[in-house]
Amino acid sequence: MSDQVFDLTIIGSGPGGYVCAIRAAQLGMKVAVVEKRKTHGGTCLNVGCIPSKALLHASELFDEANHGMAKLGIKVKPELDLPAMMKHKTDTIDGNVSGIEFLFKKNKITAFHGMGKISKAGEVTVTADDGKTTTLKSKNICIATGSDVAQIPGIEIDEKTVVSSTGALELGKVPDHMVVVGAGVIGLELGSVWRRLGAKVTVVEFLDRILPGMDTEVATQFQKILKKQGIEFKLGSKVTGVEKAKSAKGKTKVTIEPRDGGDAEVIETNSVLVAIGRVPFTEGLGLEDLGVAKDNRGRISVDEKFQTNVPGIFAIGDVIEGAMLAHKAEEEGVALAENLAGQAGHVNYNLIPGVVYTYPEVATVGKTEEELKEEGRDYVSGKFPFMANGRAKANNQTDGFVKVLADKKTDRVLGVHIVGPMAGEMIGEATVLMEFGGSAEDLARTCHAHPTLTEAIKEAALATDKRTIHM
Ligand code: FAD
Ligand code: NAI
Repeated sequence: MSDQVFDLTIIGSGPGGYVCAIRAAQLGMKVAVVEKRKTHGGTCLNVGCIPSKALLHASELFDEANHGMAKLGIKVKPELDLPAMMKHKTDTIDGNVSGIEFLFKKNKITAFHGMGKISKAGEVTVTADDGKTTTLKSKNICIATGSDVAQIPGIEIDEKTVVSSTGALELGKVPDHMVVVGAGVIGLELGSVWRRLGAKVTVVEFLDRILPGMDTEVATQFQKILKKQGIEFKLGSKVTGVEKAKSAKGKTKVTIEPRDGGDAEVIETNSVLVAIGRVPFTEGLGLEDLGVAKDNRGRISVDEKFQTNVPGIFAIGDVIEGAMLAHKAEEEGVALAENLAGQAGHVNYNLIPGVVYTYPEVATVGKTEEELKEEGRDYVSGKFPFMANGRAKANNQTDGFVKVLADKKTDRVLGVHIVGPMAGEMIGEATVLMEFGGSAEDLARTCHAHPTLTEAIKEAALATDKRTIHM
């Protein structure tokens, strides 16, 4: 047991925690980070964003070699080497997590491995794996403990047959059939990975649509494209039971019922992915004893400066309200560090882009058309399909469209929604424009290199004024 004194102690080294630590150190604070996992980087680097993108990229190339290259005059018959693909994923994780360790050293951040508990305001106890404890005194404490998988009552996740995203990133062989519960981001990304590698994929979704919260027109078009790729959807349905196979060769029986009543159906499968959302993770922090307030969804309540109801204790990232996204957590980490240093840290929650890294990608920023209607906002919509974009045609990647939504009176861009190739890269242009309060006319009058996919954004902006050139 020893006492060490810090300006800021952060519990959790995910994108929220590690970015907050680096920014605080840059601003001259003495910073400690406490992490229970063996490596830094949190969900995102270890079992989330990074490994999923490694598999999405590799499986997309495999699918392209299988189904897309012949049309471009390249005859290949690819063979899947799943262990090598998994090694690529593991190497990607290792490279990224060791990068964080390097950044901590570079910024003179002290890292403690172990379970962090706030024993009282101004004090964190770290319990290492061997049971040894260290007490840290800290002027400020930041909770950045992230989130965990949401479970379906009565359905046990064993990470072998019934998996969460973590197990789905580690399957040792391609399942014949994967039933995915939840048509959200994880279900569609990881469902796509295993479909491309050869599995039959059935997605069961409680609502009547996929990707709730995203622009409906984009989600509807995206579902059609995924269906064309071979993913089967059962919307308005729920999984009510999973009976696990009795032997390695046996099948697992998944019972699916229509949400609004009707006959149940049983699907025999050998893999079930539960992807119905994530829940804030606060276990073991001692928040109840401290009286730290949470909302009705278990998220830590904070004010506009990320402070909880207990002075000196702050929270950021997945553990508080808002989109559970790495870049949202990062922005909050920077804003908190700057606030603690007496600066005016700020997060623009209206402009947090969202990307689904499938093929094609879905990318969105700002208001959806449904949100604008609900607000009673007078808006114009301009749409342009990739089918009419020269580069998309040259690449044989013509699925999807760009939609620009702008205020009818002021022409200010309110939302941009893309389903199409490289949408996740293209959304950056729209985000910068919107951050500066730009108009559809600004976008339309900006010279875009030819031939690029981004010309579809310019054309969609022109379409808000019914003056597209290529349609
Ligand atoms: P986390 O990254 O969850 O980090 C919290 C850390 O705190 C963990 O390392 C945990 O071990 C540690 N911890 C918890 N309690 C304690 C304790 N008491 N003591 C010590 N340490 C503790 N987001 C995107 O923006 N883009 C994507 O492409 C994307 N892909 C994803 C794919 C998957 C499969 C998943 C599951 C998520 C994905 N996300 C993605 C979401 C993203 O991972 C999270 O939004 C992000 O990691 C949240 O960051 P955080 O810092 O709040 O928490
Ligand atoms: P999600 O919230 O995106 O989707 C969950 C889906 O499951 C919803 O469509 C919901 O209606 C459905 N659902 C809920 N209960 C159900 C039930 N009992 N039966 C059938 N369907 C049910 O959650 P998901 O996909 O698990 O992802 C968790 C978080 O991780 C998200 O908040 C997301 O932001 C983040 N993430 C982000 C990624 C990205 O940015 N590319 C990639 C992966 C995850």
